[in-house]
Amino acid sequence: MSNLFPPSSDVGEILISESEIASRVAELGAQIANDHEGSTPILVAILKGSVVFVADLIRAVPGPVEVDFMAVSSYGSGVKSSGVVKIIKDLDRNVTGRDVILVEDIIDSGLTVQYLLKHFESQRPASLKICTLLLREDESRPDMKIDYVGFELPPAFVIGYGLDVDQAYRNLPYIARYANE
Ligand code: IMP
Ligand code: MG
Repeated sequence: MSNLFPPSSDVGEILISESEIASRVAELGAQIANDHEGSTPILVAILKGSVVFVADLIRAVPGPVEVDFMAVSSYGSGVKSSGVVKIIKDLDRNVTGRDVILVEDIIDSGLTVQYLLKHFESQRPASLKICTLLLREDESRPDMKIDYVGFELPPAFVIGYGLDVDQAYRNLPYIARYANE
């Protein structure tokens, strides 16, 4: 297992290893291509947490695919949801008539994704799907269809593979528990 910097007491137990992530991402890429034969889906990654995931995911799609980015803020600098979603960077073009897949690093309360679904529905895409690397187990989350899920996660705050705490640890190649929650 590679380590990018000296061990930190913030980095807890490794929950999903580098190789487990790689094989699941390969499966998701194949599934996305399979589900979109004859079309070029746009993977819309939500910055910044999804950037590592989407970089691997587009290379795992054996067929035409586009990538674009949005930036939203849903959390402050801490580890708790504020419930407030604000679009900081929108797509350059609208997605009317296109097959859109929102790519998230993790779905927790679901507020971010629900807000973005509404935002995109108004542009009348041909289809609108959700792909998340991680889905936190949460009974209280409102019902929503999540088309592609990498891994389900117990209710622990996690870091690595794009996920941060105060902008740190996005470069860890694995998903680890944040030890100082
Ligand atoms: P939601 O709107 O509550 O679903 O929150 C989703 C967003 O919160 C994700 O895109 C992450 O940016 C952030 N987030 C939620 N849980 C974690 C975590 O365990 N580690 C790092 N970021 C998280
Ligand atoms: Mg995020």
